[in-house]
Amino acid sequence: MGTIFNEKVIEDFMHMCHDGVRQGWHERNGGNLTYRMRPEEVEYCSRFFDKKPRDWVKMPVQADNLKNEFFITTGSGKFLENVELEPQKNIAIVEINDAGDSYRIVWGLEGGGRPTSEFPTHFMNHSIRKRVTNGENRVIYHAHTPFIIALTQVLPLKAEIFTRMLWKSATECCVVFPGGVGVVPWMVPGGADIAKATCAEMEKYDAAIWAFHGLFVSGPDFDTAFGLMHTIEKAAQIATYALAANGGKKPNQVITDDNLRAIGKEFGVVLNEEVLNYKSDDDMFC
Ligand code: 13P
Ligand code: ZN
Repeated sequence: MGTIFNEKVIEDFMHMCHDGVRQGWHERNGGNLTYRMRPEEVEYCSRFFDKKPRDWVKMPVQADNLKNEFFITTGSGKFLENVELEPQKNIAIVEINDAGDSYRIVWGLEGGGRPTSEFPTHFMNHSIRKRVTNGENRVIYHAHTPFIIALTQVLPLKAEIFTRMLWKSATECCVVFPGGVGVVPWMVPGGADIAKATCAEMEKYDAAIWAFHGLFVSGPDFDTAFGLMHTIEKAAQIATYALAANGGKKPNQVITDDNLRAIGKEFGVVLNEEVLNYKSDDDMFC
């Protein structure tokens, strides 16, 4: 009969947690990951579900297009570092009810626990990304990425300014996130308010920076979501080094807006025009 770990999606989920840990993004219980399961994955895993599911838990958010879906989620307070070591204690599969406003654990978190405290934000953003990508998006990932967090303490908290800096940090960044990156101001983590503020950004972008906290990304699969997180954080690292190497002053030379247009043309991607045409005295990368 095998085990639930014969299902590739469970293995891939665990692997992504480990990849994030290797990058240094998940100190202690920092960061979280959720995945909206495909029907065939639910079917295979269901034979390993608890005989008696746990109680329904009402959420502070609701989504019609996620009724009766199943998600794999990291546990609140659990260390992503421990996911590969003891997955059954650190991750769970949850089922959403008919009303789209409650979940119950059907597998995992043995010994007790609940889904990540950011589950309301993940849930609402799954709803939005499912809608705007016609069902393609399945992964939502949050990490404590140090260079992005550092730059939110230095630059104006504006999507256009951050996106232009990240696009201009290295040549191929604009190909990976041509739509740009949103910015959410500092907010208390874990509740309905940060969920709503992040949703407003994820209507337009597939990634959002959380000021002084980290980064939140979405994608159709684990590789794409991880690659987006990695590319944005690496761009922030390069920008930090470049600003520091120049004594915090505006860089002496940058990838120009016309250079960005030429990359978009060559790679066949449409860059966000609002960001491309953004002009401000606060932009150090013009
Ligand atoms: P959880 O342990 O509840 O997932 O919280 C970690 C975190 O990064 C909150 O933003
Ligand atoms: Zn966090």
